Amino acid sequence: MATLTELALTHWEDSCSAEQQNTALQALEDGHVVLLPQLSFDMQQEASLLNDISTMSGKTKSISWDAARGVRGQGDAYDAGLLASMLERYAVQTRTLLSNLLPTYASQLQQGNTSFRPAEIAGRSMSWRKDDTRLHVDSFPSSPTHGKRILRVFSNINPHGAPRVWKLGAPFSQVAQHFLPAMPKPSAATAALLRWIKVTKSLRTPYDHYMLQLHDRMKADLAYQAQVEQYTHAFAPGQTWMVYTDLVSHAALRGQHALEQTWLLPVAAMGDPAKSPLAILENQLGRSLV
Ligand code: SIN
Ligand code: FE
Repeated sequence: MATLTELALTHWEDSCSAEQQNTALQALEDGHVVLLPQLSFDMQQEASLLNDISTMSGKTKSISWDAARGVRGQGDAYDAGLLASMLERYAVQTRTLLSNLLPTYASQLQQGNTSFRPAEIAGRSMSWRKDDTRLHVDSFPSSPTHGKRILRVFSNINPHGAPRVWKLGAPFSQVAQHFLPAMPKPSAATAALLRWIKVTKSLRTPYDHYMLQLHDRMKADLAYQAQVEQYTHAFAPGQTWMVYTDLVSHAALRGQHALEQTWLLPVAAMGDPAKSPLAILENQLGRSLV
């Protein structure tokens, strides 16, 4: 089961000892959460973004930013310039952190979306597929990763002392063993069609098929949700944590105001590629998936 490994970094630019680097690499690849309890994201002129916004739709999970497309999903609720400056700063700071803490990854990391999550999680009405209060592993329906790892950094920036409460579940190999037997096989024709009608931005490989099935089947199965081993952890405001969300069963139960940065990493850049979801699925299915 996932546990938390704490590191005492206090600044995004802190240099890290070889021991800290090794601890972080092993913990992440083994499916644990690396918690940086003293590393906070300082709000500058963007503090006004934390005022409660009544005009934002309750269905909005997050507001995204990336360098190419700018801010998406803010509606009229926020100043796009302020959002962009905050999210870009978070992207830069998390990159600095990862280059110091995980130097063997640094040159291979691909920057994904940066997100601001201003809505209270508890009580939000979501379709089951979008409901992150249910344990799941991450998989992006329209953006296949082709096996690349999804490494995410989160910071709780709640100004009112509210923790962000997560659940962590069973190890990936057990999740796969539980759900793989009943899963439909991937279809090359379906993958080609989804690509052609632009439902997916690139071809959904067999790997992406199985990961999406895992995400959906975990969330849809309420008996599994109730019975699987799990524990709850509260991340306090001012804390930062990182985790491979493609590997680690996780759910977010309550909390408001967080930042998140997604990084993608080729499996070959891992310390031990055999610990990737790709290798674990290939091993259990006895076939190549990309
Ligand atoms: C998730 O990745 O499932 C949600 C995590 C969060 O917003 O805290
Ligand atoms: Fe998730």
